[in-house]
This record gives sequence, C-alpha cells and structure tokens, in this order.
Amino acid sequence: MSQTSAFWDKVAERYSKKPVADEAAYQEKLRVTRDYFQPDMEVLEIGCGTGSTAIAHAPFAKHIRATDISPKMIRIAEDKAVAAKIDNIAFEVSSIDDLEVADQSLDVVLALSVLHLLEDRDEAIANVHKMLKKDGVFVTSTVCLGDTMKFIKLLAPIGRFLGLMPLLRVFTVQELAESLTRAGFAIDYQWQPEKSVAVFIVARKR
Ligand SMILES: C[S@@+](CC[C@H](N)C(=O)[O-])C[C@H]1O[C@@H](n2cnc3c(N)ncnc32)[C@H](O)[C@@H]1O
Repeated sequence: MSQTSAFWDKVAERYSKKPVADEAAYQEKLRVTRDYFQPDMEVLEIGCGTGSTAIAHAPFAKHIRATDISPKMIRIAEDKAVAAKIDNIAFEVSSIDDLEVADQSLDVVLALSVLHLLEDRDEAIANVHKMLKKDGVFVTSTVCLGDTMKFIKLLAPIGRFLGLMPLLRVFTVQELAESLTRAGFAIDYQWQPEKSVAVFIVARKR
C-alpha cells in the first residue's frame, strides 16, 4: 500500500462523518455541475472519497465510474450507494496514475478536492484531456494555498513525513488556470466564494 492510500485509509471513517464545510457552496457546485449533465452521459470521478458527490449526481447521468486510491473510502462509498439504492455507479480502487480509460470516451470528469493532492497536476490534467470527448468538461474544486498560505509549502513535507498530512502541492488559482489552458481546456465557469476557499472550475476540452 502506498503512503498516500495509507494516509487516506486512516482518515476515511472520520472523513465520512465530517459535515461539509459550506453546505450552500457545495449545493451550488452540484447545481452548476448538473447543468452540464445529460441522461446519456458517461462520467468519471477521480478521488471520489466516500462517494457523496457521485451518489448525488447519479440520477442525472447514465453511468459514473467513481475511483479513489483508498480502499476504505471506496468501501464506505459502496455501502452508501447501496443504502441510497443507486445502481449506476461503479466504484473502483485506483490511483489516477493507474486508471485505464479509452481516449475520447468520457463526457464529464470530476476531481473535487483532489488536484492539490497529486504529485503532478499537469500530467493528471493532460490525461483527463485525453479521456474526454471533444467539448467534454472537467469539473474541479481545488484548494489553491499559493494565494493565501504559501508557507505551507515548507511545512507540508514535514507533516507528510510525520504521517500527519497527505501529499500536498501548493499553487495559485492563476497557476491552476494556466495548467488547464496549457493542456487544451477553455475555462467555461470559475467561482471562488472567498479567497481562502477552494476554486471551482468547469473547463471544456477544446
Ligand atoms: C480531500 S478528499 C476529497 C474526497 C471527495 N472528492 C470530496 O470532495 O469529498 C481527497 C480524496 O482523494 C483521494 N486521492 C488522493 N490521492 C489520490 C490519487 N493519486 N489518485 C486517486 N485518488 C486520490 C483520497 O483517497 C481522498 O479520498
């Protein structure tokens, strides 16, 4: 088991019980995302955690492949989907690096609170771009600590070494937007309720 999956396994139970930090902002992100859905769409979620977002979107898409590096997160997500009687989500334990997805096969890819946790966001964004059909959308919500807490860059490796923090990359909203446009996306929608919270971006494959 990798250090990353071990960290997220350790916190999975607690994570599943934690209330959403800003319920109104979360609901708004669900609403905006749904405006891009059609009932025949194929959706992939990367880093789905305990599955709440996939379960909320499931009635609005044909199929959701919801993936996460943590087996415990996926186990909790599967139980939640059964309890919610949702049967069009395939949950899967996988790191984004190991995902096998045919080129241009997806309509929507979701990565919520994930891009800042990846070793190489540019590689991940380029891979997502390949997976999407033309005009497909990449929906992200990303903590950009480079704008507000640059010093975390120094503390994060120590926190990770001690097992107290996950892998954490520090970058700005501007740098994230540049990564998306460099990969061939056009930003369709961008919303950040406050500077200290995640930026929500819907990027369309050009
Ligand atoms: C902060 S949680 C977000 C979970 C969910 N998307 C949400 O919004 O509640 C980050 C999730 O990303 C997963 N994760 C971290 N690194 C990953 C990777 N390289 N590939 C896939 N999933 C990853 C973790 O296991 C964790 O469930």
